[in-house]
Amino acid sequence: MTTIEQPVEIDADKLMQFVFRAVDEVGATLNSALVVLGDKLGLYRAMAGAGPLAPAELAERTGTAERYVREWLNAQAAGGFVTYDPDSGRYTLPPEQAVALTDPDSPAYLPGFFQIAIGSVLDSPRIIEAARTGAGLGWHEHGPDVLDGCERFFRPGYNANLITGWLPALDGVAAKLERGALVADVGCGHGSSTILMAQAYPNSTFVGSDYHRGSIETARQRAEAAGVADRVRFEVEPASAYTGRDYDLVTMFDCLHDMGDPVGAARHVRGTLKPDGTWMIVEPRAGDRVEENLNPVGRAYYSFSTLLCTPASLSQSVGLALGAQAGQARIEDVTATGGFSRFRRAAETPFNLVYEVRP
Ligand SMILES: C[S@@+](CC[C@H](N)C(=O)[O-])C[C@H]1O[C@@H](n2cnc3c(N)ncnc32)[C@H](O)[C@@H]1O
Repeated sequence: MTTIEQPVEIDADKLMQFVFRAVDEVGATLNSALVVLGDKLGLYRAMAGAGPLAPAELAERTGTAERYVREWLNAQAAGGFVTYDPDSGRYTLPPEQAVALTDPDSPAYLPGFFQIAIGSVLDSPRIIEAARTGAGLGWHEHGPDVLDGCERFFRPGYNANLITGWLPALDGVAAKLERGALVADVGCGHGSSTILMAQAYPNSTFVGSDYHRGSIETARQRAEAAGVADRVRFEVEPASAYTGRDYDLVTMFDCLHDMGDPVGAARHVRGTLKPDGTWMIVEPRAGDRVEENLNPVGRAYYSFSTLLCTPASLSQSVGLALGAQAGQARIEDVTATGGFSRFRRAAETPFNLVYEVRP
């Protein structure tokens, strides 16, 4: 039987609304590049606390070309990142934007968020190819904006929550760390979390591991610079094979869902943890059902997941591809299959869920 397609009625107003929404989206996409540019050229830092500046003044302070700076400032003003005073022709970075764009110690610090977004977009032609074949793209195959952006994106959240919120939320763990515990930080990347814990708990010893050699080399440099290299050892190992045993605490920050074989990793954690030890898993905030994640945070995470996390997992053996919005039930299932019997949500922020997993 032949199907006769009914003509679909187009609502012209809705169509125009969508087109204008797209103008906003394209402006935001381009602005990601402009934020990274402003960060790398020091434009925001030069504006912070400086009061109203003319383009030529900002260009002079940053050693940049006035014509580019003027155009960049107008784009920033149109997007509400800076304000513009038509009478004086000067631009001001409001104090709240100054904190978010220039203060790396603030939990609201944003440049890393934009940098990893731009890095993901720059690497996206390879994802177009991978999506045709189902192949993966490993974390190690990404450019520096993904790797450095990731470190800069996550570190403010760890600074704000890890020592004061997440670790104390785990049963008895902070006390063990105070006394002196053995900790494995798996999938540690550039080692922000490892170093932060080592600084807070000088009696404890830390082993950071990641399968990506370049990340581990950076982590070692960071530990030297932070003066904790005597208590922190970094090794290039996948989560299924990091060395050592009898750990009091194993941590995984935003990496379990990136792994090809998270169940295999769970089994290795089970085998290397003390019987009374704790596995802390930090994952992106997500509900169990798709419809719970259809919000701005879920949108950003599903997008990162399409360009980074899912291809990372598919590039490894098993290729389970949990995705960055796996949700608590799926993560619990992975830990139970890996041999753990206790699982609870110990803490949460608008961006992360923190799980306590025990044998
Ligand atoms: C999103 S990054 C998070 C890095 C770090 N934990 C942080 O919070 O900054 C994910 C990390 O997982 C690592 N990774 C992915 N698969 C892995 C595996 N099978 N074993 C160990 N590390 C892995 C990547 O190399 C990358 O450093």
